[in-house]
Amino acid sequence: MAKLGRFAHPATDRPNAGTRLALKRGMNARDLFHAAPAAAQQARPVRILGVASGLGAEHSGTADGPARLRGERLESRLGQVGLTAAWGELLYPDPAPDEPVTEVVCRLCDRLATEVAAAVRAGFTPLVLGGDHSCAMGTWRGIAAAARAPVGLLWIDAHLDAHTPQTSHTGRLHGMPLAALLGQGGGTLCVERAVLAPEHVCVVGARSFEPEEAALLAALGVRVYPMAEIDRRGLEPVLREALARVRRGTAGYGVSIDLDVVDPADAPGVTTPVAGGLRGEALAQALAAVARAAAPIAVEIVEYDPHCDRGEATARLVERLAAALLGGGDEGRTPLAIALERRYSAANYDPAPIVLVRGEGAYLWDETGRRYLDFMSAYSAVSLGHAHPRILNALIGQASRLAVTSRAFYNDRLPAFLARLCRVTGMDRALPVNTGLEAVETALKAARKWAYTVKGVPDGCAEIIACEGNFHGRSIAIVGMSSEPQYRAGFGPFPPGFRLVPYGDLAALERAIGPHTAAFLVEPIQGERGIVVPPAGYLAACARLCRERNVLLIADEVQTGLGRTGSLLACDHEGVRPDGLVLGKALGGGVLPVSAFLAREDVMAVFRPGDHGSTFGGNPLAAAVGLETLNVLLEERLPDRAAELGARLLAGLRSIRSRLVREVRGKGLLAGVEIEPGLASARRVVEGLRARGVLSKETHGTVVRFAPPLVIEAAEIDQAVAALRAALEEIENGNVTS
Ligand SMILES: Cc1ncc(COP(=O)(O)O)c(C=O)c1O
Repeated sequence: MAKLGRFAHPATDRPNAGTRLALKRGMNARDLFHAAPAAAQQARPVRILGVASGLGAEHSGTADGPARLRGERLESRLGQVGLTAAWGELLYPDPAPDEPVTEVVCRLCDRLATEVAAAVRAGFTPLVLGGDHSCAMGTWRGIAAAARAPVGLLWIDAHLDAHTPQTSHTGRLHGMPLAALLGQGGGTLCVERAVLAPEHVCVVGARSFEPEEAALLAALGVRVYPMAEIDRRGLEPVLREALARVRRGTAGYGVSIDLDVVDPADAPGVTTPVAGGLRGEALAQALAAVARAAAPIAVEIVEYDPHCDRGEATARLVERLAAALLGGGDEGRTPLAIALERRYSAANYDPAPIVLVRGEGAYLWDETGRRYLDFMSAYSAVSLGHAHPRILNALIGQASRLAVTSRAFYNDRLPAFLARLCRVTGMDRALPVNTGLEAVETALKAARKWAYTVKGVPDGCAEIIACEGNFHGRSIAIVGMSSEPQYRAGFGPFPPGFRLVPYGDLAALERAIGPHTAAFLVEPIQGERGIVVPPAGYLAACARLCRERNVLLIADEVQTGLGRTGSLLACDHEGVRPDGLVLGKALGGGVLPVSAFLAREDVMAVFRPGDHGSTFGGNPLAAAVGLETLNVLLEERLPDRAAELGARLLAGLRSIRSRLVREVRGKGLLAGVEIEPGLASARRVVEGLRARGVLSKETHGTVVRFAPPLVIEAAEIDQAVAALRAALEEIENGNVTS
């Protein structure tokens, strides 16, 4: 016979210090339930516990239920309602030879109680999947132990489960758990004394029970809502009333669902079907409403028997009910793609909640078929527009001929690409890589080696100057020279040899240059910082200064290059030919990562075979796409188009009169609208744009960027400006603080 004390403070009950929602020192679980508002409770991760036992019933089919439900489906379904859910233990009975069933079940309940209590203490919401309903003696004991305060319980069941060993006709434990939890086990069951008070318990949906059970619950004062009453009053009003009862004077409430409460038409997969039950979907919707009012602290769903199921209808219903209850009523609102990504992706991005499925030109479509104007262009990587036919031809044609060879051999595509790239940019040589940060790293290596081998800087002393507010990518070396605390925090130590100067400040650069300075790395416009345009003449003056002091000027045009600002390179606006040039993003035609470092002859000459490389850099597929990208850019005169439409965009943005706008900045089709931080967040504005069919992304919380594909039309520019005007007006007229 199990004793309550056995699981009161087991070792595994200790809070898990590593868990995000672990209890603070001095707090107990009761504080946790009380302290957490409904929204915070909903955000708790879910730990799924299975009880693979049908020992409490006549047929043991339910023992296979939890294992059938195990797998990513249920986790994904919960992910759809924004929850992080993961399977914990799947508990199996471990009978000793000739051990009485009651003893085996009670030991199993002890283990379950321990697991449940530990989950609560570690900040999880337990979802217990039975097995037969005898497992409730473990689940709710565990909850009571963790709470150390009264808890309420909605017992949703076709049966009353309120037999005692003395009144039971069959002696089966799955007919007794509620009585046991109320302290009516007569000392012979797995619960030694009451863990639930009768006034905190409501039974909903009962329609098959013996008079002794009804008499016991009535004598104790448990409110029973039989099916007849539900048919008369409606499920939602009944559940609302029951919820109020189980919450009154408790630290929180749980829900125990025996699937046989549902009509066998909707839940055939149960061992004791009872006709005339609740409809599955109606129950799910009513429970979602209950959860919206107050999130449960634990949920138990039992008696799933996969052997009787039809087409997995009952398994799907289990998922639906769990999501309805645990998702705080948000059930079904989150697309599956978002749920899966949230579940399986590292959380290093925070995407807007739409799922894009198609792109063409300046337009994108989401999975609901809604069309958006793309004013983001994948951070300027899609300058030619989505699915440009010439780029697709080049891509598909080359992919079916030869895609990847490595640089261990020559291929027939790279030379033409590099030749064209050098000719159009006026540089001598190019080193092809894949992503922007690789090209920046290549530039840094080239600059250092040039300093040692050409300029004569003592070994190990070369210094590179970059600008405050820069963004050159996310490698360790590159974030090491960032002035943005978040990009650096937690990733040190960083390589030495970098120093920062204020952007746009020529005198500061002059002061910073010393005999060991190898290079000055600069973006002609600081895109990620919030489209920050330096004073006119800055770049040209930097170029002159660098030449005088024998310092390389390296322009990072990953974002500004290839037409974006209204000339092929942003450097062209000031007649600057840099010593090193970094290109990326748009070079891949919107379909592939293609980047390159280009430089003067004597700079690139520092690289010898083996010094540097990249498996995929310069592959024939990338070269074919890169070459065709340059052809399209020039033949369609996209830099000119960016200049013309960019002027229209900037004029339109500047014509908006709104106290929310602090400044409009930009060049060509790269514009930023800085929002007054005290009045609204850029994210709020971006959401307003999205609601009006325009996609963008804020940067640094205060700037909304406008960087459409260069193939965009004038009317579409006007449409986006109108959308911004309307979004700002809406915020101004409503709640302007966000
Ligand atoms: C100026 C600049 N340099 C480098 C990078 C890094 O490019 P990637 O993300 O392809 O590594 C970016 C990316 O936004 C950039 O804007």
